[in-house]
Amino acid sequence: MPTPCFVANWKMNKTIAEAIAWLREMEKHQPLLPERGWEVILAAPFTLLCSISEFLKTSSLKIGLAAQNVHFEEKGAYTGEISPLMLRDVGCRYVIIGHSERRLQFWETDLLIRQKIKGAQKAGLIPILCVGETRRERKEGKTIRVINHQLKKALRSDDPQSGATAGSRKMILDRFIIAYEPVWAIGTGETPTPPEVESVHRQIRSFFKPAMGEAASDIPILYGGSVTEKNIEGFMKEPDVDGALVGGASLSAESFYKMIDRGVKAKIK
Ligand code: PGA
Repeated sequence: MPTPCFVANWKMNKTIAEAIAWLREMEKHQPLLPERGWEVILAAPFTLLCSISEFLKTSSLKIGLAAQNVHFEEKGAYTGEISPLMLRDVGCRYVIIGHSERRLQFWETDLLIRQKIKGAQKAGLIPILCVGETRRERKEGKTIRVINHQLKKALRSDDPQSGATAGSRKMILDRFIIAYEPVWAIGTGETPTPPEVESVHRQIRSFFKPAMGEAASDIPILYGGSVTEKNIEGFMKEPDVDGALVGGASLSAESFYKMIDRGVKAKIK
């Protein structure tokens, strides 16, 4: 069984004071947070990571820290970039890689995404790899083809020693989390139906079966795109939906903890 998890993706939002206020509110509602074994992850802007990490050191709040982006090298002349080692140093355990906002607005290519995955894993970070189709690709019936292509490109290893073979390719099979995020559902209030999400998640899991066998069942596959406390239950009831990557609805601590609570209850029913 995969470890179910909920990821708050704050994107480019919040000052330090706002971040601390959010954490304090989450702290008050601890009873609603998942029992052991469930992960709650906060993907915050770089400027907040240090303050959040310090807060968590003295708090009983069980939240894993994530960055929203990373460079692939350990260090060097890359003005404006942040390395995987720096993220580890500040207390991050996870990093979002390949979010569609970075693919589309910052021209991140499949090759760059693969380099970032490798760099992150080398430093011991767990990548949260985002994949998903555009509205047009969906209309043209290309959803699965697009996702398989993104997975293949992102996780293909150039090192013959690493990982198992999927098709003709070697795969990077260290720990990772997959987030299925249809581009047309992000921030729009539109979502696929829960059975549609389940069908894509099942096919993502099948993608890994040739390389990983039964271990493919342990990969956490999250759904992301306009998830709220109102629609979370429908998604979480599906067997292959292991959690959610939440943007807009995670900015309010109240809506995020209510969402976690409803999501957990829907899953364990
Ligand atoms: P949203 O964003 O929940 O605001 O749609 C999700 C994401 O982009 O991760």
